[in-house]
Amino acid sequence: MNDYLYQRTNHYFGQLASGTEKCGMEELKALGATHIKPGYLGAFFCANPRTIYDIVYRTRIFSRILAPLMVFDCHSEKYLYKTAQNIDWTDFLTLTKTFAITSNVADSNITHSQYAGQILKDAIVDQFRDKTGERPNVDKYNPDLQLNLYIHENKARISVDLGGGSLHKRGYRTESVEAPMQETLAAIILQLSGWNGERPLHDPFCGSGTLLCEALMKQCHIPAAYLRHKFGFLRLPDFDAAVWNQVKTKANGEIREIPDELIKGSDISPEALKAVRTNRANLPDAGNIKVRRADFRSLEGFENTTLITNPPYGIRLGDKEGTAILLKEFGDFLKQKCTGCSAFIYYGDTTLVKKLGLKPEWKHPLRSGGLDGVLCKYELY
Ligand SMILES: C[S@@+](CC[C@H](N)C(=O)[O-])C[C@H]1O[C@@H](n2cnc3c(N)ncnc32)[C@H](O)[C@@H]1O
Repeated sequence: MNDYLYQRTNHYFGQLASGTEKCGMEELKALGATHIKPGYLGAFFCANPRTIYDIVYRTRIFSRILAPLMVFDCHSEKYLYKTAQNIDWTDFLTLTKTFAITSNVADSNITHSQYAGQILKDAIVDQFRDKTGERPNVDKYNPDLQLNLYIHENKARISVDLGGGSLHKRGYRTESVEAPMQETLAAIILQLSGWNGERPLHDPFCGSGTLLCEALMKQCHIPAAYLRHKFGFLRLPDFDAAVWNQVKTKANGEIREIPDELIKGSDISPEALKAVRTNRANLPDAGNIKVRRADFRSLEGFENTTLITNPPYGIRLGDKEGTAILLKEFGDFLKQKCTGCSAFIYYGDTTLVKKLGLKPEWKHPLRSGGLDGVLCKYELY
């Protein structure tokens, strides 16, 4: 009879990007988690099986939801190998299933994350070899079982990644542009903006449409993992297919249509327009994202609209000086042609904030994909 840590305690850990801890904890509460506590780049919480499936299916903000199998003091590689073999890996894997390991090590005797992952992999493979003479394969890109190893101050935690991989990969972005925004970041920006569908939303630098697709998903109540085929919880020994089907049916039953013309975007680049059209087609009610090709300077202006956008930024897109001029012009556009609107601008480079020439009402630092970004709110009177 298996008896893993998550089964004994109903304890889980959700991974978050820096600056999103408060949003993440609010989301967990809304989804029914209890005993929510902040952790390093994430949150600990409790949930019963029904709630945990629901959290994995619906979360827009967490990048991973982890179910801990065991936590132990771990001062050496040898001990990691030995202790990892206390898990009966046939509870999670068969020879026909593949697996992969993400690992993070900090402030510990074991110093290399990748090497620590390698040791865990060896422990799993050797256990299978000893029992059967054969071993399951590793598949880094599309594994059946995604494991996570975290060692901090010589305390190790081995977990199953319940989403089966990073949850920012929603599945709708089949075409991309340069410097696309991570889907979870777009979801957080929408959350922080407070946009609730009462006013139209426009993204004048829509690129591949990540903010628009996330806005549609949120407003139509499309579960964030709606297009996902593989979930890590399917590999848990106590996976309950009946409960999962009920959770999925209930969540999908809440999908609703939204008024026409609510979510719109524009971009100067034909490639971006092609990408956004392809991406929106992957979602239900896709026709509700209206896009057109336009330089923002040629837009007639906006009234009573929420502008949420991510203009080009020098670091990724090359030209810092050109970006500064473009932002100055965009600031003028907002002042002159967008009175009565609110604008939420995500800058991938904090030094660009002052180039807009408008004073933000608030700033919220948001790190993502190695960028030291910031979201600013502007009220345009
Ligand atoms: C940082 S990207 C936006 C990425 C987008 N959030 C996504 O997730 O794909 C900036 C976008 O601004 C567009 N752009 C640059 N100059 C523009 C202009 N003058 N008017 C409108 N769009 C412009 C680029 O084509 C690019 O797609």
